[in-house]
Amino acid sequence: MKKCLICNSDISPFISYGDMPIANGFLSPDKFQNEYFFHMQVAHCENCSMVQLIETPDREMMFNENYAFFSGTSLAMKQHFKEFAEDVNKRFLNNQDPFVVEIGSNDGIMLQNFKEWGIRHLGIEPSANVAKVAMEKGINTIVDFFDEALANKIVAENGQADAFIAANVMCHLPYFHSIVAGISKLIKKTGIVVFEDPYLGDVIEKISYDQIYDEHTFLFSVSSINFIFKEHGMEVIDVIHQETHGGSMRYIIGHKGERDISKEAIQQMSKENSLGLNNPETYIQFRQNCESSKKLFKNLLVDLKSQGKTVAGYGATSKSTTILNYSDIGPDLIKYICDNTPIKQGKYSPGKHIPIVPIETFRGNYPEYVVLFAYNHAKEIMEKEKEFTANGGKWILYVPNVHII
Ligand code: SAH
Ligand code: TYD
Repeated sequence: MKKCLICNSDISPFISYGDMPIANGFLSPDKFQNEYFFHMQVAHCENCSMVQLIETPDREMMFNENYAFFSGTSLAMKQHFKEFAEDVNKRFLNNQDPFVVEIGSNDGIMLQNFKEWGIRHLGIEPSANVAKVAMEKGINTIVDFFDEALANKIVAENGQADAFIAANVMCHLPYFHSIVAGISKLIKKTGIVVFEDPYLGDVIEKISYDQIYDEHTFLFSVSSINFIFKEHGMEVIDVIHQETHGGSMRYIIGHKGERDISKEAIQQMSKENSLGLNNPETYIQFRQNCESSKKLFKNLLVDLKSQGKTVAGYGATSKSTTILNYSDIGPDLIKYICDNTPIKQGKYSPGKHIPIVPIETFRGNYPEYVVLFAYNHAKEIMEKEKEFTANGGKWILYVPNVHII
């Protein structure tokens, strides 16, 4: 029996997606032979309500000097993180010489704002290649994995922080108790924690199971986050739903009793109960929904192929690794995937080995259909590719359900 990573209760999987490669492990043909796979299964803990992967690859296999995800590839996300930083600055950094720590700071997309405002900041980023981009912009960065030991070191060298911030990284960390213990020591008594991650409620509602991959050890809810932070003397004081990444939740957390708890935080926890997020039946239904969604998507592609249509993909996302491998879709059904990230171009998609090409390849010879794997950037991408649509090109989307526009 497997044990819950949060509360050590017995857990068992409600779904298996089969063997999965490293989601951001875009590779060249000489690496096909020895490609790494792990068995991807997901469980819901009935005690603390955390949804989690049963098995995850070692962290160095995912986060290293060849990490393929550069946050700055989206202009809309740059704007989103500017607003995130402004909000933290305005609401929580009103003292003299405040100090902000961000983990998963990547290429500096969020911290560059604090740097511009002359605010003392520190990024923690283990993937050396993305961290290098931030450091070249003059953003203070430590190339390492954040955990309790590193938190102690930061406090010893810099003093405690006024704010701990993070986006799309907290859910990546199976050693979560060490993270939360580290945060509780890192922030001052009046300090604040603000982070956001894809939200369990959205994944269940929109059947966006492509949010489940190696890096996403957890799918958080307000209830499960409150459970673990309480064990470390902290509590959720506010939550704000976000549209990013197909539906995310921003959690605002403080030391217990230091701040008032908002009615939104309380209401969201009771909403989670009424949505059935704490009920095992919900996950059985979710599994059935995943299976039907997968069949519909694959049948559509097989059908288009039989009609002689060309289909490509747009956005070599980590999410697409789950969809393509779970649905067994390779280059016979999707000719190529175009993407604006130089490190991904010229390589092949993890597991299914679909060629990744620059956007210019798509623009030079439009296919009839394109699957929008980066559907969370639909507005930004469709605006850029107006000409494809004007030429009669069709977009295939699969969240919240398979449809063509
Ligand atoms: N915050 C950015 C990047 C998210 S990708 C954004 O939202 O766009 C997740 C990042 O977290 C990667 O750059 C990865 O290298 C980093 N990461 C993984 N484990 C970490 C850890 N223990 N401490 C700090 N960063 C970590
Ligand atoms: P994203 O959905 O943010 O990430 P993931 O599923 O990996 O968390 O990834 C978007 C991908 O799409 C990324 O590889 C960059 C690419 N992209 C483009 O090619 N063009 C664009 O205009 C945008 C916004 C993203």
